[in-house]
Amino acid sequence: MGAPVIVDVSKLEPGQQIQVGWRKQPIFVIRHTKEAINNIESSLSKLADPKSESIDEPYRDINLTRSKSSEFTILVGVCTHLGCSPKFFPEVEPKSWDASWTGGYFCPCHGSMFDLVGRVFKGVPAPTNMKVPPHNFKGNILTIGEDEEMS
Ligand code: FES
Repeated sequence: MGAPVIVDVSKLEPGQQIQVGWRKQPIFVIRHTKEAINNIESSLSKLADPKSESIDEPYRDINLTRSKSSEFTILVGVCTHLGCSPKFFPEVEPKSWDASWTGGYFCPCHGSMFDLVGRVFKGVPAPTNMKVPPHNFKGNILTIGEDEEMS
């Protein structure tokens, strides 16, 4: 039960997200573009908890991505409101739900918004940021569900 999942991330293009399953939950693996990383703090004023202070954040203050990698973000792909799966909209363009959208996740169930690293916006139904699962990188090999350095 809950065996770790191994992903070779070398095939992901910048800007791409893939989904894998771990412990019956969707896990999102995102490879950010350089522009996305550079812009990651541009939506700061929209965020309810930019430093994930209200949740148990495994890799706080290591990378802007919230992960152990400066290029990839790993998220439990479950909306923290009532558990729908938020959709990935990486484009920087006006959206029907946000005219100043700079890329991130939108949950169609009740309209929650998260930035590209899963941080929740202010004033939406979801109460907290999306969770980051334990993970580890060895080169391009990502292991989700296990972090030798934490145990
Ligand atoms: S479940 Fe995502 S906004 Fe309600």
